[in-house]
Amino acid sequence: MTATPTVTPTVTPTATPINLPWYLPVGDEVALFEAAYAAQLPVLLKGPTGCGKTRFVEHMAARLAQGHTALRPDAEQPLITVACHEDLTANDLVGRHLLAHDRTVWADGPLTRAVRRGAICYLDEVVEARKDTTVVIHSLADHRRELPIEKTGELLRAHPGFALVISYNPGYQSVVKDLKPSTRQRFVSLAFDYPTVDVEAAIVAHEGGVPEAMAERLAVLGQRVRTLQAQGLADGVSTRLLVYAAQLVARGIAPRRACEVAVAQGIGDDADVQQAVRDIIDVLLP
Ligand SMILES: Nc1ncnc2c1ncn2[C@@H]1O[C@H](COP(=O)(O)OP(=O)(O)O)[C@@H](O)[C@H]1O
Ligand SMILES: [Mg+2]
Repeated sequence: MTATPTVTPTVTPTATPINLPWYLPVGDEVALFEAAYAAQLPVLLKGPTGCGKTRFVEHMAARLAQGHTALRPDAEQPLITVACHEDLTANDLVGRHLLAHDRTVWADGPLTRAVRRGAICYLDEVVEARKDTTVVIHSLADHRRELPIEKTGELLRAHPGFALVISYNPGYQSVVKDLKPSTRQRFVSLAFDYPTVDVEAAIVAHEGGVPEAMAERLAVLGQRVRTLQAQGLADGVSTRLLVYAAQLVARGIAPRRACEVAVAQGIGDDADVQQAVRDIIDVLLP
């Protein structure tokens, strides 16, 4: 008969971070982001849709929060993301008074929460937001690192772990909605683009759950469709859409059919463009 061993739970600090959102670096963006964060510089992620900007910032926030550097984002919620849209105002970011049981109480907006707690605040597609948001962005994005809360008269100094990250898709915005130089020049700009065939194939294989050979065909499809785009024929196809096609294939949809619904239909409604894409699909996929 053996005695039941008593197990004393020990907390072992792990060197390898756990549960990091998977991100495959394409250049020196990880080191640059880490350096910018350590220097408390705000970062602008610039690039077309579906090329990995959101995944990158999710990865970096989790990575920094689990890391061993002196400066770290809030461990509980390292990243606060705001999808900007044309009705988004400064008050939506900063906060507002709410009526609760005949009393008004102040409720922090997402930006204020990040500033107080030391989270990374990611303003996705920032040029979409109303003009009045630039005021709060500017004071946080330079040496001041402060947020004026007009409604309460408070002037908040940012928690050391706070960082401001914004994204912007230069191809897609109109001239009216371009980022103003006074805003842009407050940020370290990291330019993103669709990766090379090899890197994109690795991403599609990992995210789509398909064998490498299939992922490679999809990556080549992506590259050829982007050549059409370069000729002015179509919008580029995003890595995201190639991942969608792979996910359908992984669930038993025939590759050509998967590419039809995810890629040919996904990139637009022009019949000629769709046919040109279909022709490429027919050559590349079974
Ligand atoms: N470098 C990369 N590493 C890992 N996944 C990537 C990468 N680039 C793109 N992806 C995949 O493409 C999808 C779309 O990327 P996302 O970050 O949402 O694009 P964006 O924010 O630039 O529009 C992600 O969900 C992920 O599956
Ligand atoms: Mg995104």
